[in-house]
Amino acid sequence: MKKLIIGNFKMNTTPSEFKSYAMTFVTKVKSSKNDIVLCVPYTHLSVAKELFDKSNVDFGAQNISEEEKGALTGEISASMIKDLGATYTIIGHSERRTKFKESDKSINKKIKTALANGLKVLLCVGENLQTRTNKQACQFVKKQLDDDLKGIYENELESVIISYEPIWAVGTGKIATNGDIKKMAETIRKEIAYLYSEKASQKATILYGGSVNINNYKKILQLENVNGALIGGACLDVDNFSVIAREKF
Ligand code: PGA
Repeated sequence: MKKLIIGNFKMNTTPSEFKSYAMTFVTKVKSSKNDIVLCVPYTHLSVAKELFDKSNVDFGAQNISEEEKGALTGEISASMIKDLGATYTIIGHSERRTKFKESDKSINKKIKTALANGLKVLLCVGENLQTRTNKQACQFVKKQLDDDLKGIYENELESVIISYEPIWAVGTGKIATNGDIKKMAETIRKEIAYLYSEKASQKATILYGGSVNINNYKKILQLENVNGALIGGACLDVDNFSVIAREKF
């Protein structure tokens, strides 16, 4: 079954470095049956448009402004990235939530802005270590979903992909156990069923992210209920990431 494989470049590579990465990547993954997306810095979007046009690789940004336009120095709007060919944007990544203090209210607004501009949303949710240790991870993620998806209609949910990214696993080399990932994916599906419908829950695309790499991706992606992976650090190695993106699951 095909999976959704997403690379998150974060703030890595210059546009020229990305250009040589993208030229190699596009040839290495051209026969892949998976859905492949690269989420790149804004400065790389025009390179992505040039190199991924008419390829099987989609691309997107890592954040957008809540607002459509205006006096917001340094911000980038949904329509700006859309104009450069982006089809996705990450929203609510844990680094934005923790380091840039993004609230669920702001994330909710960003999701609405992205959807209104025809973008697909990669919504990240996940608990910190203390919440996990206190056995409140599922409750915490359910609340994030309730707040982040407030006012989003069921017919829009097809364009919202949910990525479970425990904060303590992002960029740390630590990985959630198969049992924890399965349980959280189930919790997310149940919450979607509660907020929307059983049909919406079954159709939901749920990913795992947090220290996925060439050595552990197979065991994560074979899990029932997990439709793909969001990969940070390990996507920067074009050879390894191409192997993951080409895999037959
Ligand atoms: P990581 O990052 O794979 O480096 O842990 C995942 C992410 O930030 O989406």
